[in-house]
Amino acid sequence: MTQHDPALRPTEELAQNVSQPFEKARAMPKSVYTSEAFVARELETIFAHDWLCAGRADALKEPGDYLTMDIAGEPIIVLRDREGRLRAMSNVCRHRMSTLLEGRGRTRAIVCPYHAWTYNLDGSLRGAPAMGLNESFCKTDVALPQIRCEEWLGWILVTLNPDAPAPAERLADVEKLVGYLDMGSYVETFREEHRWNTNWKVLAENFMESYHLPVCHSDTIGGSVDLMKMTCPEGTEAFNYHFILKNDSVPLALAHPENTRLQGDERRITWLLAIYPALLITLTPGYFWYLCLHPDGPDHVKILYGGGLSPEFMADPEAEAHFAALKTLLDEVNEEDKGCTERVFRGVSSRFGAPGHLSHLERPNFEFAQYVARRVGALPAES
Ligand code: FES
Ligand SMILES: [Fe+2]
Repeated sequence: MTQHDPALRPTEELAQNVSQPFEKARAMPKSVYTSEAFVARELETIFAHDWLCAGRADALKEPGDYLTMDIAGEPIIVLRDREGRLRAMSNVCRHRMSTLLEGRGRTRAIVCPYHAWTYNLDGSLRGAPAMGLNESFCKTDVALPQIRCEEWLGWILVTLNPDAPAPAERLADVEKLVGYLDMGSYVETFREEHRWNTNWKVLAENFMESYHLPVCHSDTIGGSVDLMKMTCPEGTEAFNYHFILKNDSVPLALAHPENTRLQGDERRITWLLAIYPALLITLTPGYFWYLCLHPDGPDHVKILYGGGLSPEFMADPEAEAHFAALKTLLDEVNEEDKGCTERVFRGVSSRFGAPGHLSHLERPNFEFAQYVARRVGALPAES
């Protein structure tokens, strides 16, 4: 950053904001939500740097199943190759640089829609029409650049950063906390894409605190949660979390009767895991749902929204009906969150808006602010 860098002011304001101890903390400064220059800096130092989630591995079941995504403006293909391995690679043709695939689907080969250069599922070039007379063209020299892709507890994680520590290492503490639920065995039953008119951090922060549940969600789940039953321990440099001890009002949130493995509170704890930067998981003994976020300018967020059931509920013939009811409820809750987070974005854009103090139930938000601060250079980098 230089003196003239427009990202400097929000970065300095954030540095000041996170220099307070948590007991005196306030919400993040408005500029980190509204500045174009700051979101550009986040793309470079956060989204092109850390592991991002492309959804669940079981969404790509068969060889040739693919999905496409953009990471910090970089078009990416994620697919299952012939050997059954998950791979990520550049979605840009090695001829005159058209993008290749769009959306999701299943294919035997990647065919460029411009001049039909055709790639195998490992990214190597299979064929290119009418190229025999170019003396320096050699088919075996051409391949789509590969991008790091790993499966972790059933999640597909990708990163543009060749030096990022492996997820199993960086997120070992997540496994220690929730390993007993065997999240990798949960089955995805829905996956949707949305775009909301708010900053990506406003939505991430909304997920990180359950302080808003009784009020923002008073028409849906608000009555079934108790602020006294929420615990917000300290997270790590890679994630934050809190958990809620649930009552019996949503049976799907509890362990299935067939599940005799889980004991005591394990049967009724709901975990809310915020894996930095942008994978937000609600994990219960019966079901899970998640959001994967990516900024689209300071004022919009692109959302991958999915979820599903634990294996015991998948095997239960009644589960489909239960889940249909739950999905309706999740959609209503999500709609309420859309309202709350879009209103916050209007507020942070207001000249009279100013960041207020945080509740002890917003500790994860403060830790998230510190993570953002470390990445953009407002705090010293991680050890
Ligand atoms: S740009 Fe892909 S074949 Fe020409
Ligand atoms: Fe909410």
